[in-house]
Amino acid sequence: MTSSVVVGSGAREHALAWALAQSGGVVVTPGNAGIAAHGISCVSVPATELEADLFVIGPEQPLVDGLADELRAQGKTVVGPGAEGARLEGSKAYMKEFLASAGVPTARFGVFHHEDEALAFLSTMSPPYVIKTDGLAAGKGVLVTAYLAEARRDVMEKLSGTSFGDAGTTVVIEEGLDGEECSLTVLFDGTRAFALAPAQDFKRVGDANAGPNTGGMGAYAPMEVMTSELVKEVMTSVVAPTVDELHKRAIDFRGVLYAGVMLTSKGPKLLEYNVRFGDPETEVIAPLYGARLFDLLRAVGEGRLEKGAVGTSQYAVTVVLAAHGYPHHPRHGDMIFGLGRDGQLAQPVEGVTVYHAGTELDERGRFITAGGRVLALTGVADSVRQARELAYEGASLVTFEGRVMRNDIALAVI
Ligand code: AMP
Ligand code: GLY
Repeated sequence: MTSSVVVGSGAREHALAWALAQSGGVVVTPGNAGIAAHGISCVSVPATELEADLFVIGPEQPLVDGLADELRAQGKTVVGPGAEGARLEGSKAYMKEFLASAGVPTARFGVFHHEDEALAFLSTMSPPYVIKTDGLAAGKGVLVTAYLAEARRDVMEKLSGTSFGDAGTTVVIEEGLDGEECSLTVLFDGTRAFALAPAQDFKRVGDANAGPNTGGMGAYAPMEVMTSELVKEVMTSVVAPTVDELHKRAIDFRGVLYAGVMLTSKGPKLLEYNVRFGDPETEVIAPLYGARLFDLLRAVGEGRLEKGAVGTSQYAVTVVLAAHGYPHHPRHGDMIFGLGRDGQLAQPVEGVTVYHAGTELDERGRFITAGGRVLALTGVADSVRQARELAYEGASLVTFEGRVMRNDIALAVI
């Protein structure tokens, strides 16, 4: 019997825990009410005080803060880079400098601390304008706009610290790239890199990609546009030079390199790296690997990943249900209808799993909204069409006041 600890409290951690639980015991710290209701142990004990065969750190913040270093210093097997490797996500300015030095194809960019220089650079760019907060902003620090006036206002707000505080007093201004976006989750054990099923995330809040960027409103995998040839190309042109650069800088990286890739007419270009599993991408990836995930992740932590892809035979689609007012002012405390006491659908649909992101129990033991993204419902089936139907059938059974949901997740591919 194996044992794992998952660090985090969202739907990503719920999906990881659910897959790892197929191989043995799992404890999530701190987890959430929905994960606990699903029969997975949640504890509010720091990971450093727990023992297990494998530690998987979900969110970026603890990685940036050095949790993986602390756990490794205790002799634990960990999936997740130390603080040095996590800078790839912790600072977009650092990441862009790293990519330029490694020779990874990416958007042209400038890094600025002062308004006049930033605005001068902006005026040399053509639309769409892309303005990014340097530090961590939970997926909400990026503006992509066709309007110069909006871009200028955003630069000024970010640099003055009004929109993101200290995370935003450095901005990255980038060339806008056009194309289909793909999230490639690459497991990296310090030597070998291995791509899991490519996924597509739907980042804008509204149908047809309208409205502001969010943490992600849904996803599907595998993404067929991202053929195995294209995956190979990304592994060669993006991941391989990254690995060389990590080695050159003597950064010990054992964890997930999540490559956000734009498939442009001039070939794949890297938008960004994250140093952890994607959310909601994990809600489609983890169910596809299921019981195989523990061995894969343990091999990452132990530095003995085998080469070659493990295929997936099914498709998964996840639909996120977000709270009223998401992403700017999510409302807490709305009663959620349609969930049973185990946090799964009260009226079960075979092939659908409910992963909890932001829920809690009220004093009478009923689930209420308690976060921006509230639930992620994943359908798994033999085709994207069926997986999508299942996810939306599940979503039709779960309601709460002001629920925000996209209706077009994976629609274009069926
Ligand atoms: P990031 O946090 O850097 O992944 O940016 C969030 C989202 O903004 C990405 O997933 C893209 O949809 C969009 N984006 C970021 N950079 C660019 C770019 N250079 N060109 C076009 N869209 C971008
Ligand atoms: N799905 C976007 C992210 O995890 O950052």
